[in-house]
Amino acid sequence: MRQAFRTLLTVTTLAACGAITLSFRTDEGMFPLSALQGVDLAKAGLRIPKEAIFNPNGVSLTNALVRLGGCTGSFVSDEGLVITNHHCVEGAVSRVNINYIEQGFTAKNRGEEIPVNIPCRITMSYQDVSEQVLEGISNDMDPAERSKAIGEHIKRIVEADKKSNPGLSIEISEMFTGRSYTLFRYMTLQDTRLVYVPPVNIGQFGDETDNWVWPRHNADFSIVRAYVSPNGKPAAYSPDNVPFKPAKHLEINAKGTKEGDFVFIMGYPGRTFRHQPYEFLRYQQECMLPAVSNWFGWQINMMKKLGENNKARYANFYDDIQGLSNTEKNFRGKMQGLRRTTLLQEKQAEDARLEGLTQTAPEWMKYDKLFPEIRETYQARIGEFPRNFLLQRLVNDVPQFYLAVMLARGRKEYAANKTKLAEIQKSLLEEANKAYRIEDVEFEELCLKELLQRCAMLPSGMRPAEFDRLGNVDQWFADWKKKTRLSDTAAMMGLLRNSPAKFLAYKDGLTELATALLPLLIQIEQNDVQRDNLLRSLLPRYIELKEFDRKEGFTPDANSTLRLTYGNIKGYTPNDGEWNAPYTTLDGVFEKANTEHDYTLTREQADKLRVKDVPPMYKDPRSGKVVVAFLYNLDTTGGNSGSPVLDADGRLIGVNFDRAWTATLNDFAWSSEYSRSIGVDIRYVLYVMKYVSGADHVISELGVSL
Ligand code: ARG
Ligand code: ASP
Repeated sequence: MRQAFRTLLTVTTLAACGAITLSFRTDEGMFPLSALQGVDLAKAGLRIPKEAIFNPNGVSLTNALVRLGGCTGSFVSDEGLVITNHHCVEGAVSRVNINYIEQGFTAKNRGEEIPVNIPCRITMSYQDVSEQVLEGISNDMDPAERSKAIGEHIKRIVEADKKSNPGLSIEISEMFTGRSYTLFRYMTLQDTRLVYVPPVNIGQFGDETDNWVWPRHNADFSIVRAYVSPNGKPAAYSPDNVPFKPAKHLEINAKGTKEGDFVFIMGYPGRTFRHQPYEFLRYQQECMLPAVSNWFGWQINMMKKLGENNKARYANFYDDIQGLSNTEKNFRGKMQGLRRTTLLQEKQAEDARLEGLTQTAPEWMKYDKLFPEIRETYQARIGEFPRNFLLQRLVNDVPQFYLAVMLARGRKEYAANKTKLAEIQKSLLEEANKAYRIEDVEFEELCLKELLQRCAMLPSGMRPAEFDRLGNVDQWFADWKKKTRLSDTAAMMGLLRNSPAKFLAYKDGLTELATALLPLLIQIEQNDVQRDNLLRSLLPRYIELKEFDRKEGFTPDANSTLRLTYGNIKGYTPNDGEWNAPYTTLDGVFEKANTEHDYTLTREQADKLRVKDVPPMYKDPRSGKVVVAFLYNLDTTGGNSGSPVLDADGRLIGVNFDRAWTATLNDFAWSSEYSRSIGVDIRYVLYVMKYVSGADHVISELGVSL
């Protein structure tokens, strides 16, 4: 992946800082295990006791949940089978052999399973460590020192816990920014192997066209198996390893569901931004969302154009196109959501009310500077945004520029102290190895040209003078391209390795531009760190006020730790006058088939999917059609992909894989009107395994008899 690996400049602003949540609507919620006690799940429709979901002293559904790479998965057999999404294993499998993705794959026996080594972690236990983390930390501390001290406390607590829990991965997660911290102990299984994946055009039928969209017609699921050493311990791949025996695996309910049914999801949602102030949302709306979607859109179009008549080149861009498109479309969805809803106004009104408290309520007057400081910080960010965004993209997306900046920095250090050459060489080598990677020279050079052109068009008060000195950017670029060696990674790395002094003396137009921009780049990085620290020290006060004001429904933002969310299978109105039913069927697959590229279905696949006398279990009893995907009003986000969708008895009825277009706004606030998540129905999972792939032995290992 090209994105977000160059960290010369802090790019935290892309995701923006902090992770805190405020519950905007009372029944929203990605509940941490520790908050389950306060939730009336029985009233909502759960038929099993809460201890069946989480039980610190015994076995519960929690033991069946795993975090698989950046996704979620769940154990579905006592021999370590894990069900997750197709798109969660796609990258790892295609690196082994792209044919398994294109044609699908079924291991006929254990020996045929393919090592994919996607780390699989199980939450073993957790513990509130807020007091220890915040010991001696006060609101009046200098923000940078405060962040540093918290970081050091976390490190110390983790190290100590590791000693008493050998073999487990220990992590402390910030629940409410600067206010509460939970220590999690995970068992991490490293040896995972592919057991089953449907052909990609069935697994991701509709691909980009349907991504973030309902109705949906894809079988986005796959099955892997987790292995451990013969003595039951996590271990790297070895042919001697044996299937992991989970303490709990999910039972499957293939009998079907109906609209209105209670459902819940357990999983590892990545990140939400609900406990951020209004200014954060304004920054997203005015700056981040439009700029990122615009720039990613430009990159996607360029990759598509360059790869148009060249299959190998297109394949090289494939992962990046997928990743960038996923974000680009998500951000456009959020922009639509912010336009259509009153979320911004509600947030603004809420913050005005809270600010009022700091001016009128004696116990809150101690926070009278809170809102002015938040405003001032975001004002500064928003004001500098057009310039900083372009400079950060130059560093992040143009490896030639990244190297030029590194070189400029090295040269400065060398000029200050000639005896340090070896040291400078070592650190430059480390950084270059990490991030100086050119995947497609022409593409990356075109990114450079485009970004320079955009920089040259910045308003005069904001445009660094260096860009005026370039003159005509087309001409500058053409001259630079003729002379430069920065696009030749082997040559530049060779120079750095063998003659660092010569490396530092290397010059062309871009290294000179980077040298001139260096003080500004450093300034931007420092400002960013400082602003992040300041906001991180203000947020705990903001949350404290909010909690006081809200009194209930206060759950922390998603932070990749285990959460539960519940609700119902439910249709909705995505656009005025449009009703969307909560189930799709195989009819929709055939309606779409081969109408455009993303809906390719081969003749053979179509024949297999068109089953004569389909057994009733696969069909929706009311329509008599084979069910494919379904929709529910749960509170999910990125990372929830692969999460099991469970019925009132805690049995598996589907696998979550996406959200509807309107629900991209869910990262900012949940609403029963627009928040809808999408899962593949377990009946379609079985249907595809049986009729497309003949994977009957996998189905019987799932404990389903057909
Ligand atoms: N939008 C979903 C998620 O955020 C699915 C992405 C994979 N599918 C795709 N066609 N790109 O991960
Ligand atoms: N598709 C997302 C994932 O991969 C899920 C979502 O964002 O709703 O986690």
